[in-house]
Amino acid sequence: MTAVKISRDYVQALHDRLDIEDVVSSYVSLKRTGRSLKGLCPFHNEKTPSFTVYPETKSFYCFGCQASGDIISFTMRMENLDYVEAVKQLAARAGMPLPEEGFDDSLSKLRMRILSANREAAKFYNAQLFAPQNSEALDYFRERGLTKQTITHFGLGYAPPGWNLLTDHLKSLGYSEHELVLADLAKRGRNNSVYDAFRNRVIYPIIDLRGNVVAFGARVTDDSKPKYLNTSDTPVYKKGNGVFALNFAKNSSEKKLVLVEGYMDVIALHQAGITNAVACLGTAFTTEQANLLSRYADEIYICYDNDGAGKKATARALSVLDKTGLRIKVVTMEGGKDADEIIRKYGKERFLSLLGKSGNEIEYKLNSLLSEHNVTTDDGKVKYLTAAADVLAGCQPIDRDIYASRLAKEFGVSKESLSEQIKYAQSRLRKQYFAEKKKAVNKAATDVFEGRNNPERKANLKAANAEETLIASFMRNPDFYRKLKDEFSPDDYVTQFNKRIITLLIELIEGGFSTDLSMFAQEFTPAEMDTVGKIARKGDTLANTLNECRDCIKILKGLKDGGVVDVRSMSDEEYLRAFEKLRKKKPTE
Ligand code: CTP
Ligand code: MN
Repeated sequence: MTAVKISRDYVQALHDRLDIEDVVSSYVSLKRTGRSLKGLCPFHNEKTPSFTVYPETKSFYCFGCQASGDIISFTMRMENLDYVEAVKQLAARAGMPLPEEGFDDSLSKLRMRILSANREAAKFYNAQLFAPQNSEALDYFRERGLTKQTITHFGLGYAPPGWNLLTDHLKSLGYSEHELVLADLAKRGRNNSVYDAFRNRVIYPIIDLRGNVVAFGARVTDDSKPKYLNTSDTPVYKKGNGVFALNFAKNSSEKKLVLVEGYMDVIALHQAGITNAVACLGTAFTTEQANLLSRYADEIYICYDNDGAGKKATARALSVLDKTGLRIKVVTMEGGKDADEIIRKYGKERFLSLLGKSGNEIEYKLNSLLSEHNVTTDDGKVKYLTAAADVLAGCQPIDRDIYASRLAKEFGVSKESLSEQIKYAQSRLRKQYFAEKKKAVNKAATDVFEGRNNPERKANLKAANAEETLIASFMRNPDFYRKLKDEFSPDDYVTQFNKRIITLLIELIEGGFSTDLSMFAQEFTPAEMDTVGKIARKGDTLANTLNECRDCIKILKGLKDGGVVDVRSMSDEEYLRAFEKLRKKKPTE
């Protein structure tokens, strides 16, 4: 179990002050339905709201992906923070001073060290770029049309070919090898020696919204492979969360962002005065990135490369962005392979006119389909219109009407028959959607309960169910625990994960604290909180009586003593174990 970092009194006070609706609403738009609130889950991709917030218990639960937890674990996940950092952020929000002492902020300290090492590294790389012996690196950027001002604005740099230049420099500034490896600025090789992660490459620093240098991209200056090396995940950076140049683009007044593929696309656009360009950098576009963009924009222009990979990436981005409610335009990079090339070849005006010509998502999808079908034949026409009906089936009613009319006219079919086809597609897609959703929910539910956090559960079903029922009952009715405490002990618990929960729960009850999920977030990771939350929710379907608890205790004691209790609901392993115990007992009796 992790050490307690912040006193329970403090966490309790913070929990009492915070309003979960208020905290969650800054990320998810919520609608009230009775005693709970619903919204689109920020932790998985969905179109109908499954994410539920319960103000009474200050907890959340997603019926889709089974994410669950409290205000603190929610903040940890959304902001990629550790526990202490999340508490600090929430405390500031609640206007509470932080406790002076008594918490371990070693991870925060490590992050500060890594961020400062990164900053020094960026300074070093930048100085190297302008060093006379490295003029070829500077020529590389010059040849790609970058001015000195742009290079400085983005803090671009160069990592020379040596194996230890950066490492030696940072060590002379007092950073340890261990810190450099954790920052992924250096790698550990044979004999435990460390060497620079990036060598003979130009450097693009990635800067977060607070102005911290969180990672680097490093490109070769010739055709060798791999073209790019990137900082891997570190305590200050998670690849799927980063958006390049959002630190600049967020200030654009229009609430529009231009999404491109690469570093150079972004830099070329900014140099041309299009300063709302950002890139999500090679990785598959993620829900986290979509959420981040939606905080700074109402409208996104997707300007991916004019090639197969770019089209694939566009489709992926569309499916993720779909749920954000952002207006989306898809821009075709006509006349060049990417934004960088178009700016260089034809200039800013041409790029802006492409933005102006861009189609919305529907037009983009219909056009892509059109290019895949030969509509000069009747057969091709039928196939195209059938596929187009699938696209329109997923649209808003007004869009559907407008585009159906347009297509009917264009292809000389009646609007009625096209509408018929769309209706048919709608019912098929709806069925498919719900079937997939149901499958995903089942899988997530099994995953949260079995394997992921409590690997012993599956082999000890009967015991685990009894353990969980007790936990859920005591969470709701701490009095039950007080009445039953002499009849059982956490040592009766079979599965270690549930034993951790009951042990902490007992500490909370004995200490007079609330038993809300918030009190658990310090000792369980956000991913573990999914299971803790799920167990807490069992309380909804229980009888919640003392007798029910006594039955559970009997089961646990019985399994422990080898007495067979209700064989039918035991797992095979449980049954065999109990049977074995009985067999061993007999001769002595
Ligand atoms: N990328 C990466 N690793 C690779 C290839 C690409 O991380 N091996 C990421 C980089 O962030 C890159 C983006 O994907 O900027 C787009 O890739 P690509 O189109 O190949 O590179 P460009 O940015 O166009 O690079 P350049 O114009 O310098 O050739
Ligand atoms: Mn490119």
